[in-house]
Amino acid sequence: MAQELAVQDTCVLVTGGAGFIGSHTVVELLQGGYAVVIVDDLSNASVKVLDRIKTIVGDEAANRLSFYEADVNDRAALEKIFSENKIDRVIHFAGFKAVGESVSKPIEYYSNNIGNTLTLVDVMRNHGCKSIIFSSSATVYGDPDSLPLTEESPKKPATNPYGWTKWMIEQILSDLTVADPEWDVVLLRYFNPIGAHPSGLMGEDPKGIPNNLLPYVAQTAIGKRSEVHVFGDDYPTPDGTGVRDYIHVMDLASGHVAALAWMNGKTGVEIFNLGTGKGTSVLEIIKAFSDACGHEVPYVIDPRRAGDVAENYADCSKAEHEMGWKAQYGIAEMCRDSWNWQSHNPNGYNE
Ligand SMILES: NC(=O)c1ccc[n+]([C@@H]2O[C@H](COP(=O)([O-])OP(=O)(O)OC[C@H]3O[C@@H](n4cnc5c(N)ncnc54)[C@H](O)[C@@H]3O)[C@@H](O)[C@H]2O)c1
Repeated sequence: MAQELAVQDTCVLVTGGAGFIGSHTVVELLQGGYAVVIVDDLSNASVKVLDRIKTIVGDEAANRLSFYEADVNDRAALEKIFSENKIDRVIHFAGFKAVGESVSKPIEYYSNNIGNTLTLVDVMRNHGCKSIIFSSSATVYGDPDSLPLTEESPKKPATNPYGWTKWMIEQILSDLTVADPEWDVVLLRYFNPIGAHPSGLMGEDPKGIPNNLLPYVAQTAIGKRSEVHVFGDDYPTPDGTGVRDYIHVMDLASGHVAALAWMNGKTGVEIFNLGTGKGTSVLEIIKAFSDACGHEVPYVIDPRRAGDVAENYADCSKAEHEMGWKAQYGIAEMCRDSWNWQSHNPNGYNE
């Protein structure tokens, strides 16, 4: 049964906690007084992030952090983690996230994302822990009929295996709450997380060619890429380029802490959008980043990419009313912090 717990008595297992969003969330959790256990197989992260986390939070909070290098699909490893720690809640970030790659590697994506979730919830159940926050995505809304997107907006068929994994895991976790009323599930639908920790010590560190716009813009700004490829300038948007709801990763991180406080002792399933409610075009992002880094970031216009929607942005009033959470940062701060991270860590965590 989801028990009401004081923050200082709550231990949170963060799967994928060494990754981009996970690491920022771990900092917020530790600074908020929680004990944190990270499980990450480092398939898309660097172990060096742990030292950065400890530097940011300081010794007292760092003592409340432990790390296991393990695959969430590894049942024996998870059993060990749950046996060695009294886990009260889980925040589940671990998964593969590259949309394009998911089209060419559907087995790997379904197996990792869905497989690891099934192993995780089974082990959780065996240890009496039935409280989970899941990293879902605005991708489940597909091509929207109307904007802004609320949690009531219909889910649409996904256009790639990555999107289907989010879609299906939402369903699986919702089904748990029907079968067993003791489960407590929060589905957080992220819009487009960007930015970095304001200290410049943590940020997004993509391996290979970045899939997302912001790391690509940042790597172009520092000269690692020659130009940004803008996919389509003939969408029905003010400047013809795609419009998205970008959210600072620090706001996203605080959204998880707000969700933990909100869910404390509740049962059932609840969905929250996490965005800013404001749409920004690709060209506006390039302009804002150019302002942040002090020089023009070059770009070229390419044809539209299959599966991209023209525009999406969130209605986040439910998160505000229910959890008291609202995004604080604007686009200028997101670009400033991204540039601060990129310019001080041109090779990410590989110094
Ligand atoms: N970044 C985005 O644009 C975005 C948008 C919506 C949703 N999400 C979701 O949020 C979550 C976190 O995204 P992110 O941007 O921080 O990605 P990320 O790749 O930086 O973080 C994921 C972490 O999970 C780890 N991991 C992957 N599979 C694992 C496994 N089987 N066992 C243990 N660890 C594993 C990786 O090493 C990595 O550290 C993902 O589930 C992603 O799908 C991300």
